[in-house]
Amino acid sequence: MMEMVFLHKNLLGIEGLRVEEIRTILDATTAFKEISKREIKKVPTLRGKTIINLFFEPSTRTKTSFELAAKRLSADTVNISSSTSSVVKGENLIDTARNLQAMSPDLIVLRHGMAGAPHFLSRYIDVPIINAGDGAHEHPTQALLDLYTMEERVGSVRGKNIGIVGDIKHSRVARSNILSLTTMGANVTVCGPPTLIPRGIESLGVRVSYDLDAILPNLDIIMMLRIQLERQERGLFPSLREYARFYGLNRHRLKQCKPKIVIMHPGPINRGIELDPDVADGSHSVILDQVENGLALRMALLYILCGGRHHDS
Ligand code: CP
Repeated sequence: MMEMVFLHKNLLGIEGLRVEEIRTILDATTAFKEISKREIKKVPTLRGKTIINLFFEPSTRTKTSFELAAKRLSADTVNISSSTSSVVKGENLIDTARNLQAMSPDLIVLRHGMAGAPHFLSRYIDVPIINAGDGAHEHPTQALLDLYTMEERVGSVRGKNIGIVGDIKHSRVARSNILSLTTMGANVTVCGPPTLIPRGIESLGVRVSYDLDAILPNLDIIMMLRIQLERQERGLFPSLREYARFYGLNRHRLKQCKPKIVIMHPGPINRGIELDPDVADGSHSVILDQVENGLALRMALLYILCGGRHHDS
């Protein structure tokens, strides 16, 4: 039996997690990854538990993998989206959550467009909450599955040079990755147009570059971010074409990279903007490994938060 160090009732963000807690989740992920390779991909670990997926923003990867993770552990799952819930009749988030709590779920997975929504909700209900993405704030399970995928490829990230490229300003994935990677000792550089890099981000322990070509040769891992067209104010960069010219990863730029460069993207990809198709689908890309690992990592988290260990708070 592995030693489980995880001192929280919820997973609201990477912020506040200790190295040992991150390590507990990654170690458990390895144990759960094997289950998805079996012919019968199901174990009775969470039989009798109920998990509610409350998604107030669109999602393919996160929602599907949380649902599959719960099902593979034999938990009962209920999926609720804003468009099919009483939110459209004007019910607020606290009332929605309190009504769901009255039906005794064991855990709620929440994606919400408002930064801080899971933290806010955790003050009103007793049910453990996993943050599946809150506005431009955090996406902790994405950062953890990214870290797991990086370690599979390069071993420890301590001392590795990792570039996070693109729309840093609107990206919860960037923020959570910066927190997890700096906690684990990586050298992180964020890169993008000045209008998409928040002022003062160096205080999180990262370097800033506006020149992708200048940083490429030194990187061990590069994480390309999606241009978030839905969160974009007008005029942050002249055109998508110009963005792709300066910050898109294509086969020409790939030649400037180290021979073993690892290319990541959280998805969904804007093909031809931040990543050219031949790079997204090429041998350096681990994008589908990220998705595969995400399922195992979410199984591990559900196990930990639904009773796999005792917590203090
Ligand atoms: N990476 C990610 O969060 O993807 P989805 O929006 O499809 O869940």
